[in-house]
Amino acid sequence: MFADTDLLAPDPILGLSKLFADDQRPTKIDLGVGVFRTKEGVTPIMKAVAEGEKRVTEKQASKVYTPADGAPGFGDAIMTLALGADHEAMKSGRSAAVQAPGGCGALRLAGELLTRVGASKIVIGAPTWPNHKPLLTAAGATIEMVPYYDAAASVVLFDQFKDAVSKLGPSDVLLLHGACHNPSGADLSHEQIDEIIAIAAERGFLVLIDSAYHGFAADLETDAYIIRAAAERLPEVLVTYSCSKNFGLYRERTGALIIIGEDRDRAAAVKSHALNIARANYSMPPAHGGAIVAEILGSPDLAGAWREELAAMAERVRANRKLLVEAASAHGLGNRLSYIASQNGMFSLLPTTVEQVTAMREKHGVYAVGAGRINLCGVHEDNVETLVSAVADVLS
Ligand code: LMR
Repeated sequence: MFADTDLLAPDPILGLSKLFADDQRPTKIDLGVGVFRTKEGVTPIMKAVAEGEKRVTEKQASKVYTPADGAPGFGDAIMTLALGADHEAMKSGRSAAVQAPGGCGALRLAGELLTRVGASKIVIGAPTWPNHKPLLTAAGATIEMVPYYDAAASVVLFDQFKDAVSKLGPSDVLLLHGACHNPSGADLSHEQIDEIIAIAAERGFLVLIDSAYHGFAADLETDAYIIRAAAERLPEVLVTYSCSKNFGLYRERTGALIIIGEDRDRAAAVKSHALNIARANYSMPPAHGGAIVAEILGSPDLAGAWREELAAMAERVRANRKLLVEAASAHGLGNRLSYIASQNGMFSLLPTTVEQVTAMREKHGVYAVGAGRINLCGVHEDNVETLVSAVADVLS
C-alpha cells in the first residue's frame, strides 16, 4: 500500500521549532511559531486559565459527551466576546456558534461548509498564513490570492487589494484577517475596513474573518471592530475564532466557528450544516478548553484577571517591537525596520528573501519563517543586538 509513499518536508512553521530545538548554539534566537513567550522563552499557563481549569475539574462529575456544538456555555461566551453583548446580531439571535478543534478546526468547518453550498472561490490577500491555502484547499475550496502587502516596501497595497475585491461576486468569499495580520502585522485601518465592508454589501460576496490574535493589537474592544462592523452591516458573515493565543490554550485545540445569518432561522440552518460536517469528520470537539473559556468568561473575577493578563502580554509584544526598532536604528539600519513599531500582534515581515532568512539561521542561529516572518515575542534586551547584527549582515 505505502511502497511509493514519499517522505514530505516538515511543515514550514512547525518544522522550524524542531530545527530550533536541535540547534546547540546558546545564542540562537527563536522568532518562529506564533506563540507568546516570556523573555525566558516560556509560554506560561495564564493564571486565570489555571484557576478556571481548577474550577472546571472540581465541578466535573462525568466525561460523557458534550452537546455537538461544544462545552456548555462556550458558544454564547465566545460570541459575546467577539461581537459584544449589545450587538444587534446577538440580540436578534441571528448569530450562532459551533466549538471547533482550534482555529484550524474552525477554518476546516468553514471551508467544507462553503464548498457544500457551492462557493466559487475563497479570495485571500497575499501574503497570508502559510496554512490557509493547504487547509482550505483540503476542505475542497478553490483559493485565489490577490495583492495585500508589499514586504520589500513594508506597505499595505490597499488600492490593489480594493480593486481585486471590487471584482468579486455573490458566489465568492473574501477571507479577511482579524486584528494582527499573519504574517505581516499590517492591519487595515478602520476606515479601510469600512470600505471593504461597503464593497461586500454592494457586490454581495461573503466575508470570512479569521481571528486568531484577538486582544493582541490594541485591546479586546478595538480589535473586534472588523468582526462587529461586518456583522452589523452585512447579512451573512463567518468568523473563525481561535483561543490558542489569547487564552494560551494552544494544545487544548479550542476555537469556534461563528455564523452570522440573515435571520435566526438562517443562522440555525447554517449551524446545522456545520454540526453535520463536524459529525462526519471528528464528531464533536474536545470539550476541556471550551469549558475553561466558558468558566473564565462566566466568572467576573476570572474574566477581569484574564483581561489584565492578556493586556500585559500584548504590551510586552508592543515593547519588543520598539526595542527592535531602536536597536536596528542604533546599529546603522536607519529607518529600515521602523515600520515594525506601528504594526500589530506577534508578527512582522523583515524585508528579506528566503535565501537571506536561511543565511540568518545558518550563520547566526536566528530562526524566522519563510521569507522573513518574525515573532516579536522572541526579542528581548539580551538578544536584540545579536538579532539586528544578523539582519544587518544579510541585508548588506
Ligand atoms: C503561526 O502562524 O505560527 C501559528 O498560527 C501556529 C500555526 O499553527 O501555524
